[in-house]
Amino acid sequence: MERFVGVDVGTSGTKVVAIDREGRPLARAKAPHSSSHPRPGFSEQDPEDWVRSATRALGEIGPEPWSGLAFTGQMHGLVLLDGRGRVLRPAILWNDGRSAAERGQIEASVGRARLLDLVANLPIPGFTASSLLWVREHEPEVWKKARQLMLPKDYVRWRIGGGDPVTDVSDASGTLLFDVRRRRWSEEVVARLELNPSWLPGVVESTATVSNSGDRTPVAAGAGDQVAAALGVGLVAGGPIGISLGTSGVLAQLRAEPPSECDGKLQQLCAYSPDTWQTMGVTLAAGGSLAWWQSCCGGVDTYALLAEASGWTAGCDGLTFQPYLSGERAPHNDETLRGSFTGLAAHHNRGALTRAVVEGIACSLADVLDLIGPQSASTSARISGGLAESPLVREIIASVTGMSLELMTIADSTAYGAALIAGVAAGAFADCDEAAALCKPVGATDPVEADRDAYAEVLGRYRGLHERLSPLVE
Ligand code: XUL
Repeated sequence: MERFVGVDVGTSGTKVVAIDREGRPLARAKAPHSSSHPRPGFSEQDPEDWVRSATRALGEIGPEPWSGLAFTGQMHGLVLLDGRGRVLRPAILWNDGRSAAERGQIEASVGRARLLDLVANLPIPGFTASSLLWVREHEPEVWKKARQLMLPKDYVRWRIGGGDPVTDVSDASGTLLFDVRRRRWSEEVVARLELNPSWLPGVVESTATVSNSGDRTPVAAGAGDQVAAALGVGLVAGGPIGISLGTSGVLAQLRAEPPSECDGKLQQLCAYSPDTWQTMGVTLAAGGSLAWWQSCCGGVDTYALLAEASGWTAGCDGLTFQPYLSGERAPHNDETLRGSFTGLAAHHNRGALTRAVVEGIACSLADVLDLIGPQSASTSARISGGLAESPLVREIIASVTGMSLELMTIADSTAYGAALIAGVAAGAFADCDEAAALCKPVGATDPVEADRDAYAEVLGRYRGLHERLSPLVE
């Protein structure tokens, strides 16, 4: 039987989905891997753990040969190898905050306006270029031995599927070294940062076949997780917005032309097919905020917490939560921001605090929607990711953002998107648009009209707090 397999090397573990020619899931598996935080703000993983969890999860979906294989995974991570392909240090991840000084250095060396011209994005701590400059500054011994840079999913694909150390255009877009408009490395940025271009992997489109695993299974280059997730919920150029709720919260939209005017508040990426680009805004702690709150509550089941939250009405009697536990990317791009609960009163209980956390997540998404909104006439969004499975979470996000939220059949949109890419590369689908058409919504959650005024007040309160509290954390 034909099986197209997608592998998602995520932050908390690796997920694998196998699908058939109609896009129906045949099998899924997952295996965890852990992060380490050796100093405050540091976030690292051992690439060998990714290879282990991916091998384990792949082992669970049944033996090769598969009809096609593609990888996706956490973006921006820095994997540094020596001349013999050995990993030199733990990978520095997307949510690592150590490289604030290097961000400044990149802006000073290239200039903000020139960066936006050349790579359509601005530096952020945790982006590959910022992490790379941190290693050069702080670990000269590692730097001396380095010969090759790789991104997380590419390293795992290279170890499991063989071939050359290449990346795809979407993942390359998150390095800050890539000319997103022309879909090639930016020689000027690489030169201005005094980096060695020979360390960079070759770049191909997501559906290009880069090797044959076990000499039989064609392996596609794949895509960065947010780009695979866009395909996995069926986003196409000019179509609906996507909201993906993992540890981070992402609003994404696809376009058939390269980004023109960018101000760096939103990220610009090459999307899954050669004539498509993706604009997205990332909040750092969507699911991450609820997971943090759950751990503060002694690990009580999330659904038990959400049931308590549903006993409170919109606005939680003046209680507000800001989800800036790791600073914030869109729209503030400020790693120094911190979270808060404000407006606590004696009658508030755990349910009220849980509801405030969800309302705060929804407000952070509404802030990003305001940036994307003017470019989109869309009043609906396709929502995916673990948190999206909660009806209360969907109701609150729909009501705060004013969007109707379409829920998709497949929750693991990222691994599913990779499986679709594997299918395109193997010729099962004519192109990614045909694959995207297989993704069908199973229902929609509309904003609650009766709560419209209450949520407008919540959003006003939330935005006012940012003005008043952000100076306190500088
Ligand atoms: C995207 C981003 C995260 C990571 C981890 O820019 O930083 O979504 O890809 O999933």
